[in-house]
Amino acid sequence: MSDRLKDKVCIVTGTGGSMGRAAALMFARQGAKVVGCDINREAAEQTLDQVTSMGGEMVSLSNCDLTDMAHCKQLVELAVSSYGRVDVLFNNAAMAYFGWVDQISDDDWHRTIDQELNLVFNLVRAAWPELIKSPGASIINTASVSAWSTYRLLPGIAHSAAKGAVLSMTRQLAMEGRVHGLRANSISPGLIETKQTLPLLEDPEWAEAMVGKVMLGRMGKPEEVAATALFLASDESSFITGADIRVDGGTTAW
Ligand SMILES: NC(=O)c1ccc[n+]([C@@H]2O[C@H](COP(=O)([O-])OP(=O)(O)OC[C@H]3O[C@@H](n4cnc5c(N)ncnc54)[C@H](O)[C@@H]3O)[C@@H](O)[C@H]2O)c1
Repeated sequence: MSDRLKDKVCIVTGTGGSMGRAAALMFARQGAKVVGCDINREAAEQTLDQVTSMGGEMVSLSNCDLTDMAHCKQLVELAVSSYGRVDVLFNNAAMAYFGWVDQISDDDWHRTIDQELNLVFNLVRAAWPELIKSPGASIINTASVSAWSTYRLLPGIAHSAAKGAVLSMTRQLAMEGRVHGLRANSISPGLIETKQTLPLLEDPEWAEAMVGKVMLGRMGKPEEVAATALFLASDESSFITGADIRVDGGTTAW
């Protein structure tokens, strides 16, 4: 345990998933009071167990669907009733649906915009009144290299649109938050080892095209994204706002 986030109340979304779990564990080890949530109850509860069994402080809202504004309000209420305030909002949770421009269904387009973009907007709106009360609050949104670039093998029309919007919305949040001392930044992860991406590596064509785009020649780890979120959540990044940090092993640099 250390104190880079000592006593900061940090909402982390999607704590049942790869990066959300890594962030919950890392934030708690640094003294944060973590408020987690996930639509996947079982996975969220596993993370809650892992954090509390190592002596970390965490509460979690299970069966939380962030596309539903009522659930977003409940999550903020849980933070306030448990720990009194909200200092950090790490919008990590998202779900994308893939299809080429001439094939994606209307439903998959709208579901992606809802589950990658609208859920971020919803929770920012629900948490804003609490965040602006906190001195030095920080919003961290998860964009993607797909906001900056493309992959030949990824039918990511909806995903790219949603993440591009998360990126530009974050700049606007930084501008609107400045009068309150609130910072807003985004992280653009590249190819990260997760439950969803690892099995795809078994396809040699996919592996060559995707990993071949990474300057460092390997996939990233969830902890490498969580470490960036930790920096942006902490006061170490106090002069950084309206920025995007690409955690992509150099993917977008060549
Ligand atoms: N894995 C990658 O290579 C990669 C690359 C770029 C960006 N990202 C982004 O990183 C973030 C985390 O991705 P991950 O790889 O850890 O994914 P993941 O699927 O392991 O975790 C995401 C979690 O969010 C939860 N979730 C999804 N929709 C939700 C909703 N409506 N309400 C509440 N919870 C919801 C899921 O149940 C899941 O547990 C996402 O924003 C993703 O778009 C991932």
